Amino acid sequence: MAVRGLAAAVLLLACAAQAARPYRGGAVATAYPQASAAALEMLEKGGNATDAAVAAAFVAAVVGPYHSGVGGGGFALVHDGKSGETKALDFREVAPKAATRDMYVKDGKVVPGLSTDGPLAVAVPGAVAGYLQLLKEHGKLPPSVVLAPAIAAARKGIWVTPRYHSMANGRLECLRRDAEASRIFLVKSEGGTLELPPLGHVLKQPDLARTLEAVAKGGARAFYSGRVAKAIADTVQAGGGVLTVEDLAAYKTRPRQPLEGGYRGHRILTMPPPSAGGVAVLQVLGALEKLRPQGIAFKDPEALHLYVEAVRRAYVDRAKYLGDPDFSDVPTARLVSPGHIADLAGSIDPKKATASLSLLPQSPRTQGSTLTDKPAVHTPEPEKKNTTHISVIDKDGNAVALTTTINYGFGSCVVAKGTGVLLNDEMDDFAAQPGVPNAYGLVTGEPNAIQPGKVPQSSMTPTLVFSKEDPRKVMLAVGSPGGSTIPTTVIQVISHVVDGGMDVGRAVNEGRLHHQYLPDELWVDKWGLEPATLATLEARGHKIRRVDQWGDAEAVFVDPKTGLRYSASDPRNEGMSLGQD
Ligand code: GLY
Repeated sequence: MAVRGLAAAVLLLACAAQAARPYRGGAVATAYPQASAAALEMLEKGGNATDAAVAAAFVAAVVGPYHSGVGGGGFALVHDGKSGETKALDFREVAPKAATRDMYVKDGKVVPGLSTDGPLAVAVPGAVAGYLQLLKEHGKLPPSVVLAPAIAAARKGIWVTPRYHSMANGRLECLRRDAEASRIFLVKSEGGTLELPPLGHVLKQPDLARTLEAVAKGGARAFYSGRVAKAIADTVQAGGGVLTVEDLAAYKTRPRQPLEGGYRGHRILTMPPPSAGGVAVLQVLGALEKLRPQGIAFKDPEALHLYVEAVRRAYVDRAKYLGDPDFSDVPTARLVSPGHIADLAGSIDPKKATASLSLLPQSPRTQGSTLTDKPAVHTPEPEKKNTTHISVIDKDGNAVALTTTINYGFGSCVVAKGTGVLLNDEMDDFAAQPGVPNAYGLVTGEPNAIQPGKVPQSSMTPTLVFSKEDPRKVMLAVGSPGGSTIPTTVIQVISHVVDGGMDVGRAVNEGRLHHQYLPDELWVDKWGLEPATLATLEARGHKIRRVDQWGDAEAVFVDPKTGLRYSASDPRNEGMSLGQD
């Protein structure tokens, strides 16, 4: 499908959130029509899955400033259809050199807001370095072509959608505190107060367009040194933050070995630590395969109970062991080993929910934990779709799963003066105090304590599932935003496709269940379960919390029999799936 002019744009919008339809060529799913259109444009221009995913990521930075941006970072899995090789790139933010273990603690207590709002929350951004490295290593098109749609979107402007409204509303006070962010993302009322722009209002980002143009011409150097780097460091330091031009100049992406496992005969490659998501995906699917070798019937209460209990235990391991493997000895191989997964599965009572606190610290499963037996419990509103995911599979079988974020909605709410670069608040993904929950209610331990140069633990879980017939061919590319709920969203989409044989559109639509060990609650989204099933789970001891909705799964599926691609964008958000006929 060629993408030209307004008529095409209207047609694209009309296609949003429909059931997955087949494509003979490449296919893409993202959280924004403009990003999917840019990805498709790259495929039409002869680019591959990487060109498409990187174009979409740069557009996402412009049109979804509340989810991701060039001031953030992320993870990507890239599969080469010809060689059958898959690579993982970690371009997540790192703690600045002057960061300290207790930088968010005063009088023995974590100061609320310090690691989420304002300049001290900012970690060294990795997105620009990551996107450009992906392009250099795997792409076919030059940066000037790949960045063009993002530059055009920044100049032309984006209109304020209902999603923008709800995200900006949630961060209104934070945005108001930064003059540059207010100038770009809010409007002045007649009374002189800073307010949400009305729905339909067009926001232009000329400063960001100039920054992107400089990057398109000068490469990552144009971001990590010179005018842009100085503006980032000056803005952060003027507000009491610690990021320096030296931190930016020293930033390096990190190639990682994809984490490998399997589910019911399908090979799975996912993101290793510092992602905590990949480990959870392999542990939970591995446990389910052991506990229900015959497969999982749709919404069967017994199967749901086993899923919740496996997830609870996976999140205990997450809290206890996971962090940046370059800084501590993260026992990744052991955590996804058949023996450990068998232990995890074997510890589940098939009839009764285990109280989360009973898994700490006296239990043999948690011995040696730095977590206390009474960790603070924070019950967050499930995170509202900051972070974003892009899935692409092209006509040649190359595939990209890329998840990227600035952490909380609108990140730290700080924009580097004159650059349009909205900066992340990724420092909140560290344990500000081991054992004390962060903005997602996640409790993490000593391996995730703050250290200069360290990557904070992440939930981002870009994942590829391979065909049973040919384990070198990608069958499903999937990922989601949703903070702590990302891994469980990915697990459920995979299970719906593999166990339920569900069409990928239906699989991303399905209601979801989430547990994260603390708080000890089973979150059920509004389309999750009917009352009788909920009652059965309650009778087993699960404390149910009804939650509006969460996540935004973006997935592309290849039918191994026909080779047709099917792409699906989660109807919970404003995204769109597209493909080549
Ligand atoms: N900042 C959200 C995550 O990486 O999990």
